[in-house]
Amino acid sequence: MSILIRNGIVIDPASKRQEQADVLIEDGIVKKIAPQITQEADKQIEAEGCYVMPGFVDLHVHLREPGFEYKETLETGSCAAAHGGFTTICAMPNTKPVIDNADRVSFVYNKANVVSDINILQIGAVTKGQAGEEPADIEAMKKAGIVAISEDGKSVSNTKVYVEAMKIARDNGLPVFAHCEDRSLAGSGVLNAGKKAEELGLEGISNAVEDVIVGRDIILARENGVQLHLCHCSTALSVELIQYAKKSMHGLTAEVCPHHFTLSEDDITKEDANYKMNPPLRAKEDVQALKEGLKNDVIDVIATDHAPHSFEEKNCSMKNAAFGIVGLETAAALTYTELVDKEWLSIMQMAEKMSYNPAKIIGIDKGSVQEGKAADLVIFDPEKEYEIDVSAFVSKGKNTPFGGRKVKGCVMATICGGQAVYSAPGFAEKNIKKMKDAREQIKKV
Ligand code: DOR
Ligand code: ZN
Ligand code: ZN
Repeated sequence: MSILIRNGIVIDPASKRQEQADVLIEDGIVKKIAPQITQEADKQIEAEGCYVMPGFVDLHVHLREPGFEYKETLETGSCAAAHGGFTTICAMPNTKPVIDNADRVSFVYNKANVVSDINILQIGAVTKGQAGEEPADIEAMKKAGIVAISEDGKSVSNTKVYVEAMKIARDNGLPVFAHCEDRSLAGSGVLNAGKKAEELGLEGISNAVEDVIVGRDIILARENGVQLHLCHCSTALSVELIQYAKKSMHGLTAEVCPHHFTLSEDDITKEDANYKMNPPLRAKEDVQALKEGLKNDVIDVIATDHAPHSFEEKNCSMKNAAFGIVGLETAAALTYTELVDKEWLSIMQMAEKMSYNPAKIIGIDKGSVQEGKAADLVIFDPEKEYEIDVSAFVSKGKNTPFGGRKVKGCVMATICGGQAVYSAPGFAEKNIKKMKDAREQIKKV
């Protein structure tokens, strides 16, 4: 099976190449990149005006399987990812049961093999059952193929247990993905501690809830030579602490989610639980600091924290609703609209933060567009404007505050391992027509 992508603008963060070129894919591999490839292929894609970028790599998704299949499954989650331009996604272990041993990791990989068109990689729990009492079987999980450990959904509050697990991760070459939240300080907070929470009469979550654990985790990782990746950073002080710590330690990286750089607490106009996530939407100054952190490369990664929930779990009061929003099908458009189009980031930085850097963090040979590498690619049209249509989501979760939002930038096609796994409505038909027209032209000449 071969595919020829013609006339796109290749964006390769590994070599910093950014130029118009054709890309020939054969047997799952990028065979050739050149200004004009005349070779015949089984399938041709006309990508004029589009970027041909490395498939996005999401370090942070909740696929909910096993145990919460009513929210999402490996199949529906991976399908949503393909629609969003993602070719590799990393699943958090807060399932039921928790992914804390090798058998459970194997269950996910065996099932993913059957139901997913894209690469699903598993993250193992830090502690058994995410109960915070003793380290999970990290070494065995590593042998079964996990790419990181995380207690996401919470922090490990017992620092001694955490350090023990961190050292096992270090000795097994695994990064620790940290959800930074001091639960005792968070209490039953719902929204950012600030004017919006007050206005709605809801308990707040202060910035310190995140910042104290960011500080703690950096200190612990530095002292023990641990590779630490900070999940969903939301505060200005987090960015400052990361910038400071990076000067004196290696292996520290951080991610920000599209909702945290797109919205602030001021955008919460009513009691709508689609604005409820953990960490919460922060103040405008925090949003500004996150964008600056992304621009200055203090923040390495854009990850979704795709957190699907059922209609019932979100269609209730702010106080009672579950934390989290879906993100796989909106991430690329929000990133392009909010950061690239507004000139916070270059298109190359977008590719670095959505593909190249995340791949490096988990040590996989992905995130580039280069001859000889796996053909995991996304064709992205930066000019296409549209409204986000939640009813078109293939994720089971429809919980997003972005329904109806106007965005610019659209995933036109996703190719994983040399196979077309997604094509935007109309894109394939349009391509066939364009190719026919081109052939007619050639005949006339
Ligand atoms: O909003 C969130 N949802 N934050 C988390 O940390 C967990 C996640 C979930 O699992 O739903
Ligand atoms: Zn989290
Ligand atoms: Zn999460």
